[in-house]
Amino acid sequence: MKKYFVSVALMALVAACSGGDEKKESKESEASETTAAPEVKDPSENPDYKAGLALVAKSDCLTCHKVAEKLIGPAYQEVANKYAGQDTAIAYLSKKIIAGGSGVWGAIPMTPHPQLAQADVEQMVKYILLLKQ
Ligand code: HEC
Repeated sequence: MKKYFVSVALMALVAACSGGDEKKESKESEASETTAAPEVKDPSENPDYKAGLALVAKSDCLTCHKVAEKLIGPAYQEVANKYAGQDTAIAYLSKKIIAGGSGVWGAIPMTPHPQLAQADVEQMVKYILLLKQ
């Protein structure tokens, strides 16, 4: 992850020096598999954001979670602020969503989601992590 940030910083520097070619840069970021692409200014343009949001909207997540406010569960922005940039975030959070559990944000437990596919849950987590403020 660190390496990625360094190379992004270098890319930005090179782009700035050579007059910049933002279109090319954003194409490269779309091709990348990394979740939090810091050079994408509007995260809703990120394909991970769109795919993850669609899955979240299709499941029961939004009965307990909102983007910017605590509901029964923590606001997704709070979750993103806590975990974005951590190497283990996707593995940890996808496991937690499937297994359910409590204790991190309070005593109320999240219901388990054993019916969801691991890949779909990971995609949801990628979307949530892009909400970092
Ligand atoms: C019944 C209510 C409920 C539903 C439905 C629900 N959640 Fe949660 N969620 C919670 C609660 C409560 C917590 C806080 C758990 C804790 O404190 O450990 C939480 C925590 C989380 C966290 C942070 C976990 C952590 O350990 O920090 C993520 C990410 C999350 N939910 C995503 C989802 C997604 C994605 C879905 C839909 C598939 C979903 N939630 C559905 C109630 C819910």
